[in-house]
Amino acid sequence: MSAPLRLPRVRAARLRPAAPAPTRIGVIGAGRAGRALAAALTAAGHEIVAVASRTPAAAHRLAADLAVPRPAADPAVPRPAADLAAAHPDSAGRAAAPPAPAVLAPAPAVLAPAPAVLAPAAVAARAVDLLVLAVPDGALADVVALVAPAVRPGQVVAHLSGAHGTAVLAPVLARGADALALHPAMTLTGDPADAGRLRAGVTFGVTASAGAAALAARLVDDLGGRIEWIAEADRVRYHAALAHGANHLVTLVNDAVELARRAGVADPATLLAPLLRAALDNVLAHGDAALTGPVARGDAATVRAHLADLDRTAPALAPAYRALARRTADRTAADRDPAAAAALRAALADPPPTPAAPGASAATATPAPPATPPAAAQAVTAPAAGAVTEPASAAPVNSGGDR
Ligand SMILES: NC(=O)c1ccc[n+]([C@@H]2O[C@H](COP(=O)([O-])OP(=O)(O)OC[C@H]3O[C@@H](n4cnc5c(N)ncnc54)[C@H](OP(=O)(O)O)[C@@H]3O)[C@@H](O)[C@H]2O)c1
Repeated sequence: MSAPLRLPRVRAARLRPAAPAPTRIGVIGAGRAGRALAAALTAAGHEIVAVASRTPAAAHRLAADLAVPRPAADPAVPRPAADLAAAHPDSAGRAAAPPAPAVLAPAPAVLAPAPAVLAPAAVAARAVDLLVLAVPDGALADVVALVAPAVRPGQVVAHLSGAHGTAVLAPVLARGADALALHPAMTLTGDPADAGRLRAGVTFGVTASAGAAALAARLVDDLGGRIEWIAEADRVRYHAALAHGANHLVTLVNDAVELARRAGVADPATLLAPLLRAALDNVLAHGDAALTGPVARGDAATVRAHLADLDRTAPALAPAYRALARRTADRTAADRDPAAAAALRAALADPPPTPAAPGASAATATPAPPATPPAAAQAVTAPAAGAVTEPASAAPVNSGGDR
């Protein structure tokens, strides 16, 4: 039997294809999303070469934030000894003898040059591969019109809006550039941690012209994220899904915190946190099967008791409770027998309109008079501590998603 053929061992690192050149990027809009994305892309090895904002001070702040030390090269890639020597000259400026047999040396940190602060059209005119418009949705069309004359074929112009696709970028498409809607499905509040959040497995809702798709895939990959491709016609529905889930969740939680506080709970956030986290985990894993509570049990008496109390003590909140409970009942109707379903529907009916006092407008009409809760349900009704008519006092920093 002949000896097995031994192939020479080749160091894997030497065979690694050269890393693609960093994307040269211009950013217009130094707000929450622009700052976070610029920092995340810089950390991923891309180069922000120019920035603009409505106020010069905001643009300068962003430029200064981006001029941070970072590795000059991928430290895992072996560099030739001569290269190492050149990087460490002696005090006379001569290249030092290469430290043999050093192959894997950490790359020295260098201060990335701060991006230039320019006017928006000048950022577009710079030699950037990608121009990111990180401005509010309402300003997007104006900013597109402003930069379009300066863009050219080969550039990609992106915005970060959830609700818009590429149609809003038509003026740059007309100039032969490519268009990209690159929406990070993440809430960005201006906190320094935002950039890290954008590199922690975020999904981006992407709509792209043909020439922008590959760049979108590369950037999202470099950020450690994933893409959901959204059709142009579906952008608004896509964004409504996120706003309904993330933004209304914030309102729902704030209302629950406020109600608990008015029920005498000293620390509503601590009371609610494990419950809400478990509910969120369960619904994301199991859908409607995750539902528990009185509507799931078809317990019309308890639902009626809740509403009797809320109509009296929290008239601003009661309609939202009713609407969500109806929607909850609809989603789970198939699991309920017809009599229980009818009892729930009756419990969730709107209260009769309150006759307005003579001379009172609809806006100042008093809330419905207290309904008498059923005896069995009175035990679960906390004593009223006052009406919930104002937003929660301690507004959370996190807005629950972009607007
Ligand atoms: N925040 C989020 O959670 C989030 C998440 C995903 C996507 N997005 C999307 O990101 C985009 C920006 O939202 P944002 O939350 O970052 O808004 P933002 O915090 O209000 O920041 C917007 C920035 O745009 C600048 N700007 C406004 N009008 C401008 C104009 N005409 N020319 C140049 N700059 C202008 C503002 O400049 P000055 O500061 O100089 O006044 C501000 O820095 C929106 O499309 C949004 O949907 C946001």
